Amino acid sequence: MDADSRRVVHEAARRRTFAIISHPDAGKTTLTEKLLLYAGAVGEAGSVTARKGRRAATSDWMEVERRRGISVTSTVLRFEYADVVFNLLDTPGHKDFSEDTLRVLAAVDSAVILIDAARGVEPQTEQLFQVARARGIPLMAFVNKYDRPGMEPLEIVDHLTEQLELPLAPLTWPVGAPGEFRGVINRRDGSFHEFTRVTGGSGIALEHIVTDRGPEDDPAWATAQEELELIDATDSAFDADAYGRGELIPLLFGSAAWNFGVGLLLDAVRELAPPAQPRALEDGTPRAVESPFAALVFKVQANMDPRHRDRVAFVRICSGRFERGMRVTNARTGRTLALSFAHEVFGQDRSSLDEAFPGDVVGVVIGGDVRVGDTLHLGADVRFPAIPTLTPESFATVSNRDVSRHKQFRRGLEQLDQEGVVHVLRREHTQDPVPVLAGVGPMQFEVAVERLRTEFGAEVSLQMLEWKAARRTDADGAAKVLADSGHTDVFVRADGTQVAVFPNRFVLDRFAQRNPTVRLERLIGAD
Ligand code: G4P
Repeated sequence: MDADSRRVVHEAARRRTFAIISHPDAGKTTLTEKLLLYAGAVGEAGSVTARKGRRAATSDWMEVERRRGISVTSTVLRFEYADVVFNLLDTPGHKDFSEDTLRVLAAVDSAVILIDAARGVEPQTEQLFQVARARGIPLMAFVNKYDRPGMEPLEIVDHLTEQLELPLAPLTWPVGAPGEFRGVINRRDGSFHEFTRVTGGSGIALEHIVTDRGPEDDPAWATAQEELELIDATDSAFDADAYGRGELIPLLFGSAAWNFGVGLLLDAVRELAPPAQPRALEDGTPRAVESPFAALVFKVQANMDPRHRDRVAFVRICSGRFERGMRVTNARTGRTLALSFAHEVFGQDRSSLDEAFPGDVVGVVIGGDVRVGDTLHLGADVRFPAIPTLTPESFATVSNRDVSRHKQFRRGLEQLDQEGVVHVLRREHTQDPVPVLAGVGPMQFEVAVERLRTEFGAEVSLQMLEWKAARRTDADGAAKVLADSGHTDVFVRADGTQVAVFPNRFVLDRFAQRNPTVRLERLIGAD
């Protein structure tokens, strides 16, 4: 192996690329800030990922986001701590944007599931967990808000085991009843971490580590030890291989708001989460990290900064060394493009980046045809498997209200389709002037309408449609669906996928029963 390859291998081994998945309000924003604080990437929590009230500063490029006070788009935070480079990919909170989360999960090597100690597994945690599990992503769980009254720790373990249907391995165990959080026992070395809250929680919590402590000191400590004995008696030891295969979930307890247990979570990700490893290509062969440059586009985003009216493709580097200005090939189009302005995206500050390695996520400014799921590479043609899409459950027609802006309308729709903001469906062989938008939830359409107006100057009207179910089909299936009298229809996506739509699951199931040979596939995982 030459010196360059050795360097790539070394750099890949010190990358940890992960996402935090959770139900809104579980504390993802707070935890993200605190991880940055503990990694020393910011001096004071709250200075990078603005809190809800102050979100305008980070995301004023998108009106909808500001109005709703939610995070629509994903950001990439890169920081270095104890010789490890973390790429933390944020995921949108609202369920209508779960398709974005799905794409983020295609770019990470592991994920942290964040759970509210009082609420347990909530619907969206469950949905994202299922997606992560289907992809075999190693998962770690962090039980947050233990400073507030909630479930007892043993109850939490039971609840999670039952809901997630996977064995858990507690790495830390909380001391003090929920609401009277004092510290945690680090199960890996038996040490007791006693925390003292810092007012406001913007600074690192004072932490007192004791390696040997008797029950006479504190009854809460004795209770925690007893509980741990019960845990020890079950099959709950940490097993790195099972975790790596996504079959065992290490568990940590803490309070992001009070900074309790955050440092231990950061250490657990650093020490246990997988680094960038060889990634399977479309044909299943793993691509060694030291192979020539290859990266997966998992997000395309326009106009993040109103002063730069450009598009940014977020790419996850899978092999080789990225160099600013390098010319690469887009495997889908065969065209070459220069990755001229690579931005490291930290909150909203774009700083230019000269080189990056497997595991890193970089934002490159692009022109031309680059889509989510594209592979950019050097050398011989390689492709990573396409990113799955979620099966749409909401549909609406979109029509242009001002004929003089037809070109802008068309261009806008094409771009939103490329970015994956919504799926644009048309009837086959027609230049349908009123295409159908398909998505997971109606809020996606709101974003589309707003962006068509503000970025392309196209005023549109939207009419929600009654369909609730869709399936991928083929030409034969399409003909059968069209011949069916049950208010069904068939459309094509820009990538050529035929999509059959049905008013509801009942009609879909009845059609499937009557036509058992027709190919009808859920869209997720099938791309
Ligand atoms: P999200 O990104 O997952 O939606 O959650 P976010 O961090 O915004 O947190 C949601 C709420 O939960 C916030 O309260 C936040 O302060 C609170 N929170 C987060 N972690 C903890 C924790 O460990 N303990 C407790 N007690 N609360 C926590 P808020 O009232 O909505 O906002 P704020 O006024 O506190 O900023």
